[in-house]
Amino acid sequence: MCGIVGYIGDRKASDVLIKGLKRLEYRGYDSAGVALINGSLEVRKRKGKVDHLSKLIAKEGLSGNMGIGHTRWATHGEPNDVNSHPHVSENGKIAVVHNGIIENYSSLKKQLADRGKTFQSQTDTEVIALLLEEIYNSSFEISFEEAIQLTLKQIVGTYGLAIVHTDSPDKIYIARKGSPLLLGIGENEMFIASDASPIVEFTNKVIYLDDGEMATITRDNYKVKTIDDVVLTKEVHELAIGLEEIEKAGYPHFMLKEIFEQPRSIADCMRGRVVKETNSIQLGGIEDVMDELVNARRIVIAACGTSWHSGLVGEYLFEELAKLPVEVEYASEFRYRDPLIGRGDVLLVISQSGETADTLAAMREAKKRGALVLGICNVVGSTISRDTDAGVFTHAGPEIGVASTKAFTAQVVVLTMMALAVGKHKGILKDDDMRMYINELLMLPSKVEYILEHANEPIKKMASLFTYAPNFLYLGRSYNFPVALEGALKLKEISYIHAEGYPAAEMKHGPIALIDEMMPVVVIAATEHTNDKMISNIEEVKARKGRIIAIMNDANSDVKDISDFHISIPTTKDCFSPLLTVIPLQLLSYYIAVNRGCNVDQPRNLAKSVTVE
Ligand code: AGP
Repeated sequence: MCGIVGYIGDRKASDVLIKGLKRLEYRGYDSAGVALINGSLEVRKRKGKVDHLSKLIAKEGLSGNMGIGHTRWATHGEPNDVNSHPHVSENGKIAVVHNGIIENYSSLKKQLADRGKTFQSQTDTEVIALLLEEIYNSSFEISFEEAIQLTLKQIVGTYGLAIVHTDSPDKIYIARKGSPLLLGIGENEMFIASDASPIVEFTNKVIYLDDGEMATITRDNYKVKTIDDVVLTKEVHELAIGLEEIEKAGYPHFMLKEIFEQPRSIADCMRGRVVKETNSIQLGGIEDVMDELVNARRIVIAACGTSWHSGLVGEYLFEELAKLPVEVEYASEFRYRDPLIGRGDVLLVISQSGETADTLAAMREAKKRGALVLGICNVVGSTISRDTDAGVFTHAGPEIGVASTKAFTAQVVVLTMMALAVGKHKGILKDDDMRMYINELLMLPSKVEYILEHANEPIKKMASLFTYAPNFLYLGRSYNFPVALEGALKLKEISYIHAEGYPAAEMKHGPIALIDEMMPVVVIAATEHTNDKMISNIEEVKARKGRIIAIMNDANSDVKDISDFHISIPTTKDCFSPLLTVIPLQLLSYYIAVNRGCNVDQPRNLAKSVTVE
């Protein structure tokens, strides 16, 4: 949520910052701004897209070789020019950009106001700028770095911060608590960013800041310490992603590119892990904890949004393939209960970004209570990937579209591999079972490819018939109940059509009242053991004149005969079917959103990585 970028070196800073902000725009796009020091502090900010800011800078000019920038997802105060970051101190010398939330901002604001400070914005961030200025100016003996430390000690909440001051025009200061920040090390230049995307084209050497740490950065050096002034030596990591992975490659939207990348991302996720030769699943990231996992009392999965849906698929997988009891929790609810979890339990957190605040909080809660904490995560170097006891990367590549697609399928593949590995270790799955599952798993990329080739055009056509539908219902059973939820979420988040997903049998307990000739009902009828029941559900919808869009197998011609529209997908084992059934639903929501003129990659009010609770 919100993006931070910073640069110090020989390049024109405004160019680097604008480019970086564009790459970070998927994190928040209400407004954007930059602050550069070139003799004095120069600030430019604008409501709306980074393009608006870029035009302003082109018009007014902005020179300098160091500065910070921000793209905002509003929390405190509406998106407008004034509330945009950077926020500046009263004397116009300090500029601050901030990701996160200052929870005690109203009491700090009141205290500052009582001491005569005047605020320009409604944001929590401005409090930092004014408090920092006050502390720095309170004594000649306080360095700016010390003033930052003293300020941060008064702050309750979360922050990723970048700060500049005209008194130290050759330095950028950054600090982190609960909101990611990394430092990119170049040749006589340094970059900072809230994720790797703005840095990747300049350098692959990065340092990840941890919670409670800060850094002072010059063009050729950096000094990392804790907020309590303990100097640290940080490991320099190598970024594994390339520039081409964060560009659109000829597709009109990142979302479509990412949907079409799935044959490859699913294969990448299985590469070296699903091993036909040895008839085994090799998951290096959890090898050391396999015994604990196999002997776990139960697995609790905690996640949000799409990742929560993959967790629900995981529940079916672990229970069927590994006979391990699983509970799936919304991460946000998990931490606010008094969760009964401890030694002997496994908490499995799932997150594309690895930075979702609610999921991090669940992870910390379970760790505190003694559970083994495992992660499934896409972003290497993210907080979840570093703070869990062990885990498995999804290797889906950067996902830029706000609506998650390839991350979902990769998460389901990881869950499948984990369930198979545990099932094998427990002796539940015999060699023949493993052989059958592994053969089928390895065929999935080409089956996804087949769907993309054959279903794309029919879905595009079909989407135009439903562009103005006011509501949608999605029904699925068993493994495809979570897919119904995911299909509905995808549609509502990018097209703004109201959509609900239900276990098909629940329909008669309420939602059936909604069905009339105006209600499209997407029915996922592609698991063998529930097909007969799904046919009954379709008949119930038809009897009330609802229009059926069926996702089905050719093997099941009955469904075809009674549906208004159908998309045929290849057959697979029931437990793998979410990996195929979700693809047409992603395409359907994409084309409906495009037809409605929506901003598919950056839907209103959303952000890719939700780093506030
Ligand atoms: C997915 O389309 C959504 N944008 C959202 O629900 C997302 O899955 C959720 O915020 C969790 O994110 P994470 O996987 O990065 O933790």
